[in-house]
Amino acid sequence: MAHFVGAIDQGTTSTRFMIFDRAGREIARHQLEHRQILPAAGRVEHDATEIWENTLKTIGVALSGAGLVAADLAAIGITNQRESVLVWDRETGEPCHNVIVWQDTRTDALVAKLDADLIREKTGLPPATYFSATKIQWLLENVDGLRDRASRGEVLFGTMDSWLIWNLTGGRHLTDVTNASRTMLMNLETLDWDPDLLRLFGIPREMLPSIRSSAEVYGTADTVLPGVPIAAAIGDQQAALFGQTCFAPGEAKCTYGTGGFLLMNTGSTPVRSSHGLITTVGYRFGDAPATYALEGSIAAAGAAIQWLRDQLGVLDSAAESETLAASVDDSAGVCFVPAFSGLYAPYWRPDARAAIVGLSRFHTAAHITRAALEAICYQTRDVVEAMAQDSGTTLDCLQVDGGVTANALCMQLQADILGVPVSRPAVAETTALGAAYAAGLAVGFWHSVDDLRANWHEDRRWQPSWSPERRDEGITRWKAAIDRTLGWVS
Ligand code: G3P
Repeated sequence: MAHFVGAIDQGTTSTRFMIFDRAGREIARHQLEHRQILPAAGRVEHDATEIWENTLKTIGVALSGAGLVAADLAAIGITNQRESVLVWDRETGEPCHNVIVWQDTRTDALVAKLDADLIREKTGLPPATYFSATKIQWLLENVDGLRDRASRGEVLFGTMDSWLIWNLTGGRHLTDVTNASRTMLMNLETLDWDPDLLRLFGIPREMLPSIRSSAEVYGTADTVLPGVPIAAAIGDQQAALFGQTCFAPGEAKCTYGTGGFLLMNTGSTPVRSSHGLITTVGYRFGDAPATYALEGSIAAAGAAIQWLRDQLGVLDSAAESETLAASVDDSAGVCFVPAFSGLYAPYWRPDARAAIVGLSRFHTAAHITRAALEAICYQTRDVVEAMAQDSGTTLDCLQVDGGVTANALCMQLQADILGVPVSRPAVAETTALGAAYAAGLAVGFWHSVDDLRANWHEDRRWQPSWSPERRDEGITRWKAAIDRTLGWVS
């Protein structure tokens, strides 16, 4: 009998495979970063073949490290960076272009022409370069011969869940409803591809995967794990909502990865935001009605730290951001707005670009690094505030997870800037855990969401320590810095 469930977490920065037991405890993991291909300002790409090879390696290393074999896994779930677009050849499996990553802004001009009311009404999303539709449109218009091949049904589109399922099963082409809801092509009421939107973006239906629920058996992972059912596919932020066991309306979590994403469960009704949030699908179990969520998406959270490490070279590792930032008492008036891909929620300003303001000759890399951590927290505060306005309820504690939560200074700053406690669960990798939970529920490894709730334990809680005056002063300066980033690109 299989005692474990596995999860592939294909994120923006890395791919990991994790194995969990029935108590939701981590048994094994392996993780590999992939290249961030930055061909020009505003462009961010990944190599889909590298991602697939990393997936194979992480599965192999995690399993062998724990002394396990495929038969020990009751099922696997897949969770993934959302919105990022790949088109590949149906016969050969060859990618037709690199993955165009969600952060990529090359489709600015296409987005500017869209009817915002129509798009919001049908999809729950504001028109933005963030989502998949204009990226597919760009590929069809710019890759030689691709449009003809697409209309002859020779190429397939998918987000990373589809790419992995296609490779793991040896050719099944499908996606789940959470990933589909981020393409700007799915109708939020029918949960199917919207014919008007397909026409608007000039995307042939033949290239799109079929939309399935987030938790059901799609096939077996025979190319890698013979006989193991693939029983869940769910966008990474929705998976984290699941992993944090936010199953009741009003329950919310914030995940800090490359970006930052606050999601609140709104139950079986899609709630429309009037404060700059996104309406999205939270998850759907088999034939049950979909559960919806309100989301505040932040484009750059950990990405700000990665930029300091990879582009400026002021850090050797992401972990060093904590010690360096802790070497100064505060950012000494510096504000860093990491609007590398424009500003997402609640601003939705594609014309914004990143800025570091308030510098004098006194300031060092330590102040800028501290300002980067503060920026993660101020951006989160902006979406927490929008969520409170939309839902009419204020959070009395923020449930957090994701890689950045290993940075205790950042989490202390988050509590200080929000003015409410911040709580991290024992398993901070709730994205992978959520995908494992969804897969395990689908195959009966777990029987109900109550089994999963019983697995949730708090690991650490940070209490706010700033005075209201200090908080207000910080927020005022942050808003002034935001204003300076607007209108930078037309
Ligand atoms: O919407 C983008 C999101 O899915 C990416 O998540 O964790 O890779 O930053 P992450």
